[in-house]
Amino acid sequence: MSDQRQYHIALSAADIQGGADVLLPGDPGRVADLARSLDENAVALGANREYCSWLAHLDGRPVLVCSSGLGAPSTAVAVEELANIGLKRFIRVGTTGAIQPDIDFADIVISKAAVRLEGTSSHYAPMAYPAVASFSLTQRLVAAAERLGVPHHVGITASSDTFWPGQERYDSHSGYVRRAFQGSLAEWRALGVANFEMEAAALFTTCSTFGLEAACLCGVIARRVDSQAVDHDAYPLAAERWQAIIREALVGTRG
Ligand code: URA
Repeated sequence: MSDQRQYHIALSAADIQGGADVLLPGDPGRVADLARSLDENAVALGANREYCSWLAHLDGRPVLVCSSGLGAPSTAVAVEELANIGLKRFIRVGTTGAIQPDIDFADIVISKAAVRLEGTSSHYAPMAYPAVASFSLTQRLVAAAERLGVPHHVGITASSDTFWPGQERYDSHSGYVRRAFQGSLAEWRALGVANFEMEAAALFTTCSTFGLEAACLCGVIARRVDSQAVDHDAYPLAAERWQAIIREALVGTRG
């Protein structure tokens, strides 16, 4: 563990007061709300680049909330530096596009593994290495969702480096999707993949190779079965649900 203030996240070990748990929303703008959902007295620690950090206390224990930024490279940087200052359990929380017909808006998808449709994780492990979530941390999230009766799905997530071509969206600037990705959404669906997002594979791979625990839960804001569009109206209920699951799952986590 390092006492040094970390270059990108601008945090040091003293800031996290011995905490082991970190929540990683992608968007810095979601950090304060998430931290306050755990602890009304949560405090801002600071912000540097895409990394905004707050410290909450839940059940007497510190929980860091630190944005990962968008996509795999900034997520890997966050994991490196958060691991340096002592974090052990990493929970990504974000939004997602569902690709299975039984997954509805604002449902929660809990990832058990991720398709490595990105480049960052290959800097840490060869492509044959699986991007898998921590079994025990994921089980905590699933058990919490079940106890609360929150609509949820446990499945494989495809983590793409891009929002448009890698997720086979044609409403991009050029409208073009490379041949390699044409038909890919239908194929992932046929292979049982639940959803698209952009960070889980890098998070799972880095944490596994570092011997740390990682999990991911996402709220559905796009139903790719029907449309390419994002429905902003789904966000408040999705956020309410993931906040409840995280609170429930973290109370009682020891170590
Ligand atoms: N985030 C994604 O990466 N894709 C979506 O469709 C929605 C959120």
